[in-house]
Amino acid sequence: MKKVFVKSYGCQANVYDAERMTDLLAGEGYRETNAMEDADLVILNTCHIREKAAEKVYSELGRVRDIKLVRAADGHDTKVIVAGCVAQAEGSEILRRAPQVDVVVGPQNYHRLPDLLQRSRARSVVDTEFPIEDKFDHLPKPTRAQIVSRGVSAFLTIQEGCDKFCTFCVVPYTRGTEMSRPVARLIDEATRLAEAGVRELSLIGQNVNAYHGEGPDGSVWSLSRLLRRLAEIPGIARLRYTTSHPRDMDDALILTHGDLPALMPSLHLPVQSGSDRILAAMNRQHTGDDYRRIIARIRQRQPGIAVSSDFIIGFPGETDADFDETLNLVSDIGFAFSFSFKYSPRPGTPAAERSDQVPEPVKAERLARLQKLLETQRVAYNQATVGQTLDVLIEKPGRLAGQMAGKSPYLQPVQFDSDSLTVGQIATVQIVRAGGGSLFGDLVKAGDRVAA
Ligand code: 5AD
Ligand code: SF4
Repeated sequence: MKKVFVKSYGCQANVYDAERMTDLLAGEGYRETNAMEDADLVILNTCHIREKAAEKVYSELGRVRDIKLVRAADGHDTKVIVAGCVAQAEGSEILRRAPQVDVVVGPQNYHRLPDLLQRSRARSVVDTEFPIEDKFDHLPKPTRAQIVSRGVSAFLTIQEGCDKFCTFCVVPYTRGTEMSRPVARLIDEATRLAEAGVRELSLIGQNVNAYHGEGPDGSVWSLSRLLRRLAEIPGIARLRYTTSHPRDMDDALILTHGDLPALMPSLHLPVQSGSDRILAAMNRQHTGDDYRRIIARIRQRQPGIAVSSDFIIGFPGETDADFDETLNLVSDIGFAFSFSFKYSPRPGTPAAERSDQVPEPVKAERLARLQKLLETQRVAYNQATVGQTLDVLIEKPGRLAGQMAGKSPYLQPVQFDSDSLTVGQIATVQIVRAGGGSLFGDLVKAGDRVAA
């Protein structure tokens, strides 16, 4: 049997795509391996969001080239595929810089992998057209064993692409325009996951709350309607969604945070900056106060909700006063955790053309200050759960023997002692300590065991 090694960079959409590629290649006789050295086929599923992420691909391709040479000396052929957003953005440029690559395939085309592999026997191929057909219609369904091996918390891509065109962002160019998968397909996929023991679904998309899929009755369904329907599937206990745009947090979705028990109290809602001037230059189409109002309304519905965000520091033209506005917004909101990045000019995006780029040392200094504040908030948020009793979805055995590990409703990793509970159960745990990246607790009550 041939072996495939897949390495994914970047966002959860890439994790989902990597799983689909593995499912597809299983049908072609490939088994997954964790060792690149053993692989007959190496796939790098790449990310183009910042320069650092994109450049990683080329250093990894150097390693792949060396392995390919060693294997060739032993008489083994190694095929190399570059998939994902760098593939989409750079296309045949990748073959120029890295001739060891056999196939370059964009995120909308990987359902054609078997055919592309076949064609690459003659010479390297590039497929970055946006196809007319929907890749999801051409992908095989994962087997029960594949689902089980990936655990009780699964990703489900419901939406792809973005039409917002923030001036810093490559996503509208690499993932294409916004498209929502039809409701019936999502119910099918979710049911299949649940029947194999999945208890938590994270609905994913580059702009997931802009979801507007075709319902079974031909009408357009919003994200809130989809969430309510998915919550009815037996076995599904928890729902989350990511990543969202503030402009698409509509009233129905905010209400759903208050009255759908399966919708977990966590929300990743990137704000990027606290300065209205910078938000306008980013084409975010909202102000800092709009963001404050949205969070206040959601907190009325779901007090204690873990709000997280992404931040870009040193966007062109950002002054000290603009940056102070970002710090003010962070202090006002109180985030459970966040991701923050130095602005990275991306080819083809409007902001990259601006002449008022912020010097690297200024970006670095501001980023360090922001991260210090965010870290203080993260620690405080976790500390506040000490003494509380939380439901924990058990995902795997813990670090030490006799421990189990899972997630709180607020997305915090939790470890606790138990030798009788199994993965997939939801246990009630009293939190006694917050340390490092995890919470530690004592088991109060075992949850229902779900027949899978
Ligand atoms: N530079 C830095 N960070 C960026 N992001 C998107 N584009 C850029 C860029 N050009 C960040 C945003 C986004 C997250 C996924 O990546 O914060 O929300
Ligand atoms: Fe990029 Fe998100 Fe803006 Fe879309 S909404 S352009 S994905 S940052």
